[in-house]
Amino acid sequence: MENKGPFNAKITSVGHYVPDRIIDNKFFENFLDTNDEWIKTRTGISERRRLDKELPTSYMAVRAIQDMLSNRGIGIEEIDLIIVATVTPDMMYPSTACIIQKELGAKNAWGFDILAACSGFIFSLTTAIQFIQNGTHKKVIVVGADKMSAIANMEDRNTCILFGDAAGAVLLEPTEDRDSGILDTIMRIDGEGGKYLYQLGGGSLNPSTHETVDKRMHFVYQDGKSVFKDAVKGMADISYEIMEKNNITADQISYLVPHQANMRIITACAERMGISMDKVMVNIHKYGNTTSATIPTCISEYWKNGKVKKGDYLILSSFGAGYTWGSILLKWAY
Ligand code: COA
Repeated sequence: MENKGPFNAKITSVGHYVPDRIIDNKFFENFLDTNDEWIKTRTGISERRRLDKELPTSYMAVRAIQDMLSNRGIGIEEIDLIIVATVTPDMMYPSTACIIQKELGAKNAWGFDILAACSGFIFSLTTAIQFIQNGTHKKVIVVGADKMSAIANMEDRNTCILFGDAAGAVLLEPTEDRDSGILDTIMRIDGEGGKYLYQLGGGSLNPSTHETVDKRMHFVYQDGKSVFKDAVKGMADISYEIMEKNNITADQISYLVPHQANMRIITACAERMGISMDKVMVNIHKYGNTTSATIPTCISEYWKNGKVKKGDYLILSSFGAGYTWGSILLKWAY
């Protein structure tokens, strides 16, 4: 997307939060016909985190933001806008952004939620940079947070083993350097993919009733095979497209930061781009698919380990329910 504003947006801080409780693959062997070996080889997941039952998504988002703010050394009153990517809001409304704003005491911020499933963080980042690029906002938070354990059907071995709970946050600020920060974005949706991945119950089409509960309509449904096929192509193509469009070669890229849904999708995407696996950020083995949180938790962990440096080119890419998919090219600026 072309930037016609006076500024570029750059990420100036990152942070994340994962719950302490670890659920390993063996846990599922107790009540499902599955095993550690199948889960590891078919998905790349060894364990995932689970938030306490009584705690909401905002609990993790608040902690990820606090981590991010302390890494930058600024106070919450400086924040102008909070954008929350999630498919597991605390409730239908008010928005999770309002709940987070109150919890943090962000008295000078407005905010809203964005629903784009596994592409939620990428779509939210693309939305957030508009406010920075046009000069109207100086400090914008994007937080991706999902408590997937709240909507995972523990009787469905096809899906429940995939998901985990986590939150990751970034801070965006303006820069006059047009050669750094977020350089380009490509976003796509295709509603034809809606039939393969959804949560039917609780909306205006199927308001919550005893029947929607009995029919397990408040859980994730996924036709894994169809989504797998489309995700491999969608994510690989759009990641390659942003490289080509910006004349960036695989050698110049420091990191691919892919959505963490399945290790085989991640590998296929890296192969298509000609990027070796040591330049791919991965945490799926530890956390599973945390939906909106996969990309910011990856960046935060790698940054904290001193692996992300000023001037590094990163490509972020995702594919998720909708279908939604996208890629972002950025040059790390701090
Ligand atoms: N343990 C053991 N066997 C399992 C299993 C589990 N946890 N889950 C599924 N299986 C079985 C299936 O029932 C099927 O058995 P069948 O052949 O007797 O019907 C067999 O394994 C193969 O199933 P299939 O769906 O072909 O497996 P897969 O290799 O495609 O892996 C997913 C399944 C879900 C891991 C994979 O399809 C996937 O990752 N899909 C995309 C996820 C994604 O990208 N989502 C996007 C946004 S979140």
